[in-house]
Amino acid sequence: MLLRRCAILYMEPREDLHLDLKALFAGTSALDSSVQWVALAPHIGRELNINAAEMMALGRIGAALWVERADCEQRHSEEVVARLLELGLLIAHGGEPDEPAQLASARDRDTALRAQHWHSLAALTHTFTRWEDVCAETGTRFPSFDLLQAEYGPPPPTTLEFGTEDHDVVLPAPADGTLDKVLLNRYTCRNFDPDASLPLALAARLLQRTFGAQEQRLMSPTATAPGALALKKTSPSGGSLHPMEAYILVQRVDGVSPGLYHYHPVRHVLQPLRTLDAEQAYKLAFDAVANQHWFANAPMLVVMAARVERNFWKYRKHAKSYRALTLDAGHLSQTFYLLATEAGVSAFITAAINEIKVEQALGLDPLKHAVIAICGCGYAAAETTMVEFRQGDLTGW
Ligand SMILES: Cc1cc2nc3c(=O)[nH]c(=O)nc-3n(C[C@H](O)[C@H](O)[C@H](O)COP(=O)(O)O)c2cc1C
Repeated sequence: MLLRRCAILYMEPREDLHLDLKALFAGTSALDSSVQWVALAPHIGRELNINAAEMMALGRIGAALWVERADCEQRHSEEVVARLLELGLLIAHGGEPDEPAQLASARDRDTALRAQHWHSLAALTHTFTRWEDVCAETGTRFPSFDLLQAEYGPPPPTTLEFGTEDHDVVLPAPADGTLDKVLLNRYTCRNFDPDASLPLALAARLLQRTFGAQEQRLMSPTATAPGALALKKTSPSGGSLHPMEAYILVQRVDGVSPGLYHYHPVRHVLQPLRTLDAEQAYKLAFDAVANQHWFANAPMLVVMAARVERNFWKYRKHAKSYRALTLDAGHLSQTFYLLATEAGVSAFITAAINEIKVEQALGLDPLKHAVIAICGCGYAAAETTMVEFRQGDLTGW
């Protein structure tokens, strides 16, 4: 059998601090620590404890060339090689009769990862910072700034100061502009009217003007490859690639059944993925936004998931490409907020999301589709129980 190391692998010497009760009663230092090697491989997506011998073997078996298993076993022992294959950190070439399913599955994940051209640190960051069952409400004790202040002291100042005021270059006050009305009224809504639904025309305009293609252009005037097209949208996108797909969770949009849809940016249609009843749609929204109930009842939520191969096709293993994906999501969200404000509804964005729940609901492979954030919109409730920066209403801050 031939084998090689998986494509991306980082090893962390993880320190675990614990109370040593014996030492405590003996009157010596009660804190004890042990260090354990933790292997972090994006194609597995789970932390794996490994021992020193396994760590050494992984440091000597390359990720590019296939080598004979027997040679590896001679150098690192049969036991070490078998365990690393079982963990999926060593990849079997395949083609062996009766190959265990586990080896084939590890190879498939490794092949999928290699095919995307992730920057290794970005792959690690993305796969290991996803949440599955996090409850953001209790996890971050939102929104009590008093508690934060009690624990950490006052926050750092709102801005930096350079020099003294007499050196300032004084600027003229901003002139009024046509964007002012929406810019100054934009805020993050945390109090949606739970009964109001979105008119279809309003939802359609928001989707088209935020996520839709305003034009299709050739990537370059001389581009000849079929499909060498760029979409022109109202927000900028790194490399003009627009990798962000918009998946719509409909709860209350007039004329559209609750469920999950893909918004097609060129044809301007919703492509049904899963029909849900109102209760299932709410449960999914609630889980997806990590129990932030103030967002879960918005009539329309939009999952922004980057199709990474679109961006990494150009920016292969690029140090900045993951940053560009998150910036793309930020631009789209601000455009969405402004369009919502203009239309008389309010919007939100959250990055505190249970990506794994979203991936499962949409059937997305995290190595190929990076779920970055969720935004949404709806009519604001007249009464506010959750804290907001709504115009003229800064209660609670
Ligand atoms: C990337 C990003 C993530 C955010 N995540 C959350 C969140 O998880 N929960 C929340 O209530 N608000 C979230 N917000 C909204 C901010 O809290 C909000 O923008 C901020 O309080 C300023 O208020 P404003 O948008 O009304 O000006 C997020 C905003 C951004 C840009």
